[in-house]
Amino acid sequence: MLLICPVCKAALIQQERNLRCENNHSFDAAKQGYWNLLLAHKKRSKDPGDNPEMVQARRQFLEQSFYQPLSDRINQLASKALNNITEPNILDMGCGEGYYTARLAEFIDSNCQSHASITGLDISKHAVKAATQRNKTITWLVASGADIPLPEQSLDLQLILFSRLMPEAFAKPMKPGSTLLVAWPGEQHLIELRQLIYKEVNTSHFDPIKTLDEYFELSHREPVSYKFTLESSEQIESLLGMTPHSQRLRPEAKSSISQLEKLELTVDVNLGLFTRR
Ligand SMILES: C[S@@+](CC[C@H](N)C(=O)[O-])C[C@H]1O[C@@H](n2cnc3c(N)ncnc32)[C@H](O)[C@@H]1O
Ligand SMILES: [Zn+2]
Repeated sequence: MLLICPVCKAALIQQERNLRCENNHSFDAAKQGYWNLLLAHKKRSKDPGDNPEMVQARRQFLEQSFYQPLSDRINQLASKALNNITEPNILDMGCGEGYYTARLAEFIDSNCQSHASITGLDISKHAVKAATQRNKTITWLVASGADIPLPEQSLDLQLILFSRLMPEAFAKPMKPGSTLLVAWPGEQHLIELRQLIYKEVNTSHFDPIKTLDEYFELSHREPVSYKFTLESSEQIESLLGMTPHSQRLRPEAKSSISQLEKLELTVDVNLGLFTRR
């Protein structure tokens, strides 16, 4: 997949482990094999995105397959959306440590005729470093979703899984008529954990359909809901560590959660397919 220069937007040409544009802006591959296209002056903080502890907790939790049914459904919807496209270009924006990206790549490899070009992008270099261990054929990028270094109208499919929506920036690299697949938590998602953390559980008023409306039209929406049980305090800790809730934990809640040995939880996630207008 062609990448563009984050400085001047010209095409980046790869020569072995270096990318260079016609204006001589140059980027070396990291030793793990990813490209860092995040410009220092565009960072809001020195080390943006998920920190190493959150990345580690997410990996530990996802490795235990509790979200595999969700990932399977994402793969089915994604491959349906790609129907008839022979060499699709796919981006997983905010890919984190690459669980869903790598599973999608494997799914397409073994179930579809097409040869897909898949890119995983995250602003956290810790997340992308971890992602490179999952799959070497995926192009892994440290970059900002606010300024995606891909050519305009080049993508057939973009995934936004549990990440903040930036409609205009996401629309830019997508072909007209292409698909944006969004996953966002429903009202009951991990409700049992939230009840342990907060005195009053907030209901979310997040409405991606409205947020995305200027650039994307909803074509399909479905809930994925099921229950799973965590059977040890380590498992509970890894789930807690990957959620934003862990940052806001009251000491009383922390100590009561740390004493739990078992916790039944609800998955309640919305999947939406949106068409780029
Ligand atoms: C809740 S995590 C979801 C990760 C992954 N999609 C998953 O579900 O496992 C959100 C991710 O968005 C990344 N992120 C936050 N701001 C970003 C930005 N402006 N551009 C790209 N990624 C960003 C974080 O580093 C983090 O990995
Ligand atoms: Zn350039």
